[in-house]
Amino acid sequence: MAVHPLCVEPHPVLRTPARPVDQFSDDLRRLARDLIDTMYANDGIGLAAPQIGRDVQVFVANPTQQRGREVLLVNPVLEAVTGRAGVVEGCLSLPEIWERVKRAARVRLSGWDLDGKPVEVEADGLLAIVLQHEFDHLHGRLFIDRLSWFRRQRVTRRVRARAASRRAAVPPSQASGAKGRDASLAASRVR
Ligand code: NI
Repeated sequence: MAVHPLCVEPHPVLRTPARPVDQFSDDLRRLARDLIDTMYANDGIGLAAPQIGRDVQVFVANPTQQRGREVLLVNPVLEAVTGRAGVVEGCLSLPEIWERVKRAARVRLSGWDLDGKPVEVEADGLLAIVLQHEFDHLHGRLFIDRLSWFRRQRVTRRVRARAASRRAAVPPSQASGAKGRDASLAASRVR
């Protein structure tokens, strides 16, 4: 088991489009295990590789938080989105920020499993939201990017203030791995 420190905004890896996985190797399996362990250790319901400092296209999602029921996708493609939903979201890379985000209600994604076999995932409810949130992480997007301009300005000020207080509180040698305690997404109504 390996729990990694989380990368927190404004860490540059969170804003870097992740590279496609080109080898279904032991390293990929290790990364998948580490993502799952780190997600559960932080009480999250989703986690993408960039959040632990790896710029590759892998994420894990599991709104049930039951071990063994994770949805893991490698090189995911968003094939279809339908309907509308609005859920209050949080993110392990944005500690203590919670905002309602407009999303699609249902999604279909294709991708690959750890063995390089093609997989397709269809989801609605909270899983659909988590899949969209984690998919965004692989393209350098955070949920705050989807807020209205006004709300985003307000949130960005809070993110900057928190980053400044972390820099003041944490010795520089540990500053890149500040650990968040929030769940990756708050369970909430899907509208
Ligand atoms: Ni997130």
